Amino acid sequence: MSEKKAPIIIGSDHAAYDLKEKIKAFLVQRDIDVEDVGTHGKDSVDYPDFGIKVASMVSAGKFERGILLCGTGIGMSMVANKFPYVRAALCTDLFSAIMSRRHNNSNILVMGGRVVGDVLAMEIVKAWLETPYDGGRHQRRLDKFDRIDTAISD
Ligand code: RB5
Repeated sequence: MSEKKAPIIIGSDHAAYDLKEKIKAFLVQRDIDVEDVGTHGKDSVDYPDFGIKVASMVSAGKFERGILLCGTGIGMSMVANKFPYVRAALCTDLFSAIMSRRHNNSNILVMGGRVVGDVLAMEIVKAWLETPYDGGRHQRRLDKFDRIDTAISD
């Protein structure tokens, strides 16, 4: 019996609604449970509302990994990286997606629905899900992120 895969929390604004739906189908096909926080249509919405929903859950440890999508991916990555323990990586290519896992242990993948094509987006999702974190010397560097969060809250 294959091991149950960790669920993924996903959110987008209207600009990446279509891509979100495609990624959801791609994940479900691979037996990965998806928690979709919206948006649920193409009406104009504010991306921070959905970025906050996903990033707060990852930050609180309720989900290990999430995916955020907007037109460029820039707004979502700005929002997500304000949350402690979130390491959101805006990826437009495979190499960055792989390295964001290996070296940065990224826990939120961000993409721009108006930037990447569907085929590349699915390849990025696949690589991001399958690539493990290297650990080792990289953990010393990530520990320094956590110290920023502690210093801010002191
Ligand atoms: C919405 O028009 C657009 O601003 C948003 O999707 C995103 O690209 C923001 O960074």
